Amino acid sequence: MSDISHLTPLLAIETSCDDTACAILDAHGALLGESVLSQEDHAALGGVVPELAARAHLKALPELVELTLRRAGLELEDIALFAATTGPGLIGGLIVGSSYAKGLAMACGKPFMGINHIEGHILTPRLPAALRPGETAPAFPYLALLVSGGHCQCITVEDTGQYRRLGGTIDDSAGEAFDKVAKMLGLGWPGGPALEKLAREGDPQAYGLPRPLKGRPGCDFSFSGLKTAVARHIEPYGREALPRQVAADLAASFQQAVTDVMADRILNALALVPQVTSLVVAGGVAANGVLRQRLEEIASQHGITFLAPPLRLCTDNAAMIGWAALERLKQGEVPDDITLAPRPRWPLSERQPYRPQATQETSSTGHSSLMEPSA
Ligand code: KG4
Ligand code: ZN
Repeated sequence: MSDISHLTPLLAIETSCDDTACAILDAHGALLGESVLSQEDHAALGGVVPELAARAHLKALPELVELTLRRAGLELEDIALFAATTGPGLIGGLIVGSSYAKGLAMACGKPFMGINHIEGHILTPRLPAALRPGETAPAFPYLALLVSGGHCQCITVEDTGQYRRLGGTIDDSAGEAFDKVAKMLGLGWPGGPALEKLAREGDPQAYGLPRPLKGRPGCDFSFSGLKTAVARHIEPYGREALPRQVAADLAASFQQAVTDVMADRILNALALVPQVTSLVVAGGVAANGVLRQRLEEIASQHGITFLAPPLRLCTDNAAMIGWAALERLKQGEVPDDITLAPRPRWPLSERQPYRPQATQETSSTGHSSLMEPSA
């Protein structure tokens, strides 16, 4: 474990999608200051518009960084390292956030570190602020289910920097499926929370929707067939407004189908890696009560812990980026070269090509080898 006191406090920036976020962490991972600005403009447009998101990040960052420093009671000069998400995500936002962090690093003469967004999500359950009273950080190895608007993956976290991707979606992400079905049902964006609310009035058995890939080996996901099946039930109503009860029954049946599929995939994952000690869930879809409850039941049946970080740390945030940087630095990883380029697609398995030779050697000791095949 490396001494990282000279590299902290660190300031982290997250701009990979539509949340502009900044956080400052000390050497123990305590959150000294945190700010998130969720871009509202996309709601009226029914989804994230990449160009608008990038511009909004650019506009928001200076004030957000100042606000976070104020909340931490620190000056810019007190920051010892600047970290930013460098992928995967929307390239415009990644360029804005990482360039801003690099600019601050250069201006202050401090190092810069680029962090993988997925790594941030799956290490979050180890962040002290993510633990509720009485909870302890999950021991390695643990199973992470990342379900958000942009991602849907099942990953074994074997150690910091050692990940095995067991499966992922072959079409839509889980959040995308919720958003698209919600739109068909006439609900606003983002659709997940509205769909869950409407589903409370519906019967989850009302429609026999398909359970894509259920019963098949592996841990991949597929949601597009399910979405099409919902569309077929809506078609007969043409331009008429969908009766509320029909919409509620469809919402409940869809939510049930997604939950069944997720449960099936997680059971396969647990059979593949029976040595895991915890099941952790992250991403916006982890807010779904029905899904959470089913996952909690599965974990309890397998005698393992279930952990779901508080929602603000489940969704996109900068604390997770700062925490991933800390975990890597503690493992002896060194900061990145300032020329490190952001990558819209960055599989967890691929190490940054710019890391100095000394760090790459670390991988042969097992600390930093990354093993999964795609983003
Ligand atoms: O992690 P997140 O805030 O942003 C990224 O996509 O990175 O996830 C947002 C997604 C949206 O698709 C939203 O509809 C979904 O999470 N979501 C939900 C719920 N709350 C948010 N899906 C199902 N049920 C919910 N309660
Ligand atoms: Zn995310």
